[in-house]
Amino acid sequence: MPLQRTTLPSSNRRRLFRHSAANSPAAALMSPESTATALNLRRILGAALLFFLVSLSCVLLFRNAYYSVFVSSNPLSRFTTVFPPNDSAAVTNEYSLENILSEAAMQDRTVILTTLNEAWAAPNSIIDLFLESFRIGDHTRRLLNHLVIIALDQKAFIRCQAIHTYCYLLVSEATDFHEEAYFMTPSYLKMMWRRIDFLRSVLEMGYNFVFTDADIMWFRDPFPRFHRDADFQIACDHFTGSFDDVQNRPNGGFNFVKSNNRSIEFYKFWYSSRETYPGYHDQDVLNFIKVDPFITDLGLRMKFLDTANFGGLCEPSRDLNKVCTMHANCCYGMDSKLHDLRIMLQDWKYYLTLSPSLKRLSIISWRVPQNCSLDSLKHDHGSPEKSVQEG
Ligand SMILES: *[C@@H]1O[C@H](CO)[C@@H](O)[C@H](O)[C@H]1NC(C)=O
Ligand SMILES: *[C@@H]1O[C@H](CO)[C@@H](O)[C@H](O)[C@H]1NC(C)=O
Ligand SMILES: *[C@@H]1O[C@H](CO)[C@@H](O)[C@H](O)[C@H]1NC(C)=O
Repeated sequence: MPLQRTTLPSSNRRRLFRHSAANSPAAALMSPESTATALNLRRILGAALLFFLVSLSCVLLFRNAYYSVFVSSNPLSRFTTVFPPNDSAAVTNEYSLENILSEAAMQDRTVILTTLNEAWAAPNSIIDLFLESFRIGDHTRRLLNHLVIIALDQKAFIRCQAIHTYCYLLVSEATDFHEEAYFMTPSYLKMMWRRIDFLRSVLEMGYNFVFTDADIMWFRDPFPRFHRDADFQIACDHFTGSFDDVQNRPNGGFNFVKSNNRSIEFYKFWYSSRETYPGYHDQDVLNFIKVDPFITDLGLRMKFLDTANFGGLCEPSRDLNKVCTMHANCCYGMDSKLHDLRIMLQDWKYYLTLSPSLKRLSIISWRVPQNCSLDSLKHDHGSPEKSVQEG
């Protein structure tokens, strides 16, 4: 606390007092006759000084105590207390993206990125489950030191600051993405494409990244499972069994991209392809362009990640001994998503309580999907409550 530093420890205070009484220039120049009056004067001055110091320390102590109570009563309120939400200082970036990335990056300039909007930032919503998974995962807690949350609106940014170290507000010109962006509406599409363009800029700044949707639970460190020789590797809704097979169904919610000329050109191509395929989202367009000769000519090394390690509700990572991440994909509707994600976290916690030998037997698996399913989309086709940011 800054105020604490201004309060002198009592030993220092005593030394200061003694110093001014004994070694004052007045004492050195004193004649014997004036000693008596000088002594009185010194007593008065001394008493006055003592009184002053005691009062000062009382004021400081009081202010300290007041400040401590004020802050410690609710640690999460720190940001909103110091910068009220309506204060524009709270909703602008204090640090540049470059600063945040360089602080959060691993030694090899890799960062973990996720995006967040107001709907997913609400307390007890997606973002809390996402962060919890890192805390209870196997060797994943330390990865939080490399996670940068990209807020897509001001409320998400404020919530991020209250719960995480690295937050960046991605300001967008026209659209505010604060509302639950309904799947495939123009606002949803714009948000998804904005993300691709932003990730291209991160690559251009020389950072490799793991991009992860926030509805992906991190249960194990994925880095040992990544291919060493790939520029772009991506998780799948359906994995055919071969890492190189373009028939795999990639899911844009999770990918690991190395920063180099090939990946930068690829992201530019991907982004510009939204004009070739208007009305489609980035993942559909990726499915169109993954076989484009342009990518072969670029020499981009693309790999698909096995759902055995990088699973989801479309195709779960059945063996909990192998799972790194689990995505609430193939899921429509915020309530269903939250419901199934919570069960997923419970299942993981239960797995952690098993003895090593029971773990090896792989006797338990996920109890999900429950409320999430593609059927729910078919039955409720066109109903806005059922369509939500899809992963
Ligand atoms: C900002 O202040 C207005 C009233 O001036 C209030 O209605 C609104 O809720 C405040 N916004 C936030 C985010 O607190
Ligand atoms: C990209 O290519 C240029 C030459 O075309 C080279 O100077 C530069 O170092 C390359 N950058 C990266 C990140 O590989
Ligand atoms: C999940 O499904 C069950 C059974 O269909 C239903 O009772 C419950 O309300 C659903 N919960 C949510 C959060 O959608």
